[in-house]
Amino acid sequence: MICYFCLAGLAIFLYVFVIHIFVKLMLLKLKHGKDVYISFIPLFGDYFFLQQSFKKYGDATEIFKQRCQKNPNIKFVASNILNKIFLFVHDPEYYKQVLVNHENYTKVEILYHPKLSSTSILFGEPQKVKQQRSLLGEAFTFEKLKQRTPIINQVLLEKLQKEDKTNVLDFLTKTSSEIIIKTFFCKELQEIIVQGNDITTEMIDLITQLGDMQMNDLYVSIKLALLGRRSFGLFPSKNEKQLDARIDRLIDGTLMPIIKNKIANYKPNQNSDFLDIYIHAYLNQKPNEPKITELELCQLFVSIVSAGTDTTSHQIAITLYYLGVERQAQEEIRQEILNVVGNEVDIQPQHLGKLVLLNAFIQEAFRIKNTVIQPLTRIAKETHYIKNLKVEKGTYVAALTTAPSWNDKYFDDPNKFDYKRWLSQRPIKEDNGYVFVPFSAGGRNCIGQHMAMMTMKIMIGQILRQYDVVVDPSVKVTFPLVLFIQYSPQNLVQLKKRKE
Ligand code: HEM
Repeated sequence: MICYFCLAGLAIFLYVFVIHIFVKLMLLKLKHGKDVYISFIPLFGDYFFLQQSFKKYGDATEIFKQRCQKNPNIKFVASNILNKIFLFVHDPEYYKQVLVNHENYTKVEILYHPKLSSTSILFGEPQKVKQQRSLLGEAFTFEKLKQRTPIINQVLLEKLQKEDKTNVLDFLTKTSSEIIIKTFFCKELQEIIVQGNDITTEMIDLITQLGDMQMNDLYVSIKLALLGRRSFGLFPSKNEKQLDARIDRLIDGTLMPIIKNKIANYKPNQNSDFLDIYIHAYLNQKPNEPKITELELCQLFVSIVSAGTDTTSHQIAITLYYLGVERQAQEEIRQEILNVVGNEVDIQPQHLGKLVLLNAFIQEAFRIKNTVIQPLTRIAKETHYIKNLKVEKGTYVAALTTAPSWNDKYFDDPNKFDYKRWLSQRPIKEDNGYVFVPFSAGGRNCIGQHMAMMTMKIMIGQILRQYDVVVDPSVKVTFPLVLFIQYSPQNLVQLKKRKE
């Protein structure tokens, strides 16, 4: 009797997780022929190769790059995850439609948490996100951000003088988070201590742990993949309970009292930081607009700081790594900075446009190793088409925006680090405007991209003025994926003070 149950269970399992998916993939192959590459590994799908790639090549993306280079004309890779189809869209004409028609999708729940991010700009419902982007958009324009360059310079120069720089990534993370908080938020939020940590260390650590748990803890990731947002609070594991308690301490115990106090003492016409802008909207809500809640104000702080900090610091760290490897380029760029900035202490807005070599180098580092390999994976809300590709409701769709950077259809000699390619008239051979989009594109692109570019140029520029960036060529470097692509070992890049 038991055996019959086992057999029936096995048959259902095989049908749901293997046969059903395999047949769907074969049908896609039949319809799309050479346009599609099929990658089927029961349960794990293409994610299986992330670990394989790291084990074999010491680089989490190498297998995907090689696959792209062997099949430069594929439009998409069709794979699976558990019982779902997973499409990795390579062709910029195809993923353009994913990015432009973003309302066809919800974001996968990596980094989602009901208390930490459910109403934030990262995960809110479309109407909510539209409201948030329109409230915050102006503050992120280059014109407004220009006024913030003194803060960026000041925070960095102080930290360069005082802080330990042995672990460059740690140093950059602390510096970028302080820059973001000081640029966009009030003093009360800059000085909080939670559980013995300053607020940003606590927040970044929490978010890294949340992402790590959702991606690598088997129980949590399967629950999330099968139940989506309904999985939160359902039979929580010990790790989930501990993390929830920390999140409660951050939101209820720390941020909420500050937000309530700010609301109680708000005076109109003091729109100097993000919370003021938001509190103004909160106090003047209109019935036909999405409701703004106090929790949303807390999540605004968490989401802006977390979206802006690790992204910026990881990309600066990887750019410094390439500067350490490309010694001659480092010298050329340092000379440019010294010529453009002269004796002035700050790198100012008027200098930024003149730092063309530095800009080209940053672009090339983005192309050769973008630490954010793709925007968050989406899940199709309804069945729809991406050009001739039918995407069924519930399908996972990743716009693999990094793929064109590996492809010689778009870039000559794509494996070569050649920052001067960005100085030529046409660095991209065939461009529909979506080939090189390190900050994504469309209505859900990176709202902080001008802030990111400005911070990167000022931070790298100031570092090069004072330090030699050194990479020991005898140390074996690897590139793991820990939410972001990063280099390892962590002390690989060293900053050596230059003689005045
Ligand atoms: C090198 C630095 C950065 C990179 C590479 C980067 C990249 C990206 C990408 C690829 C997205 C799209 C994510 C998706 O659709 O899943 C995104 C979204 C976002 N970024 Fe950035 N970002 C950077 C810096 C910043 C900074 C400095 C801020 C703010 C201070 C910021 C705030 C945001 C926000 C709020 C979103 C969500 C927008 C939305 O969903 O509508 N980012 N970023």
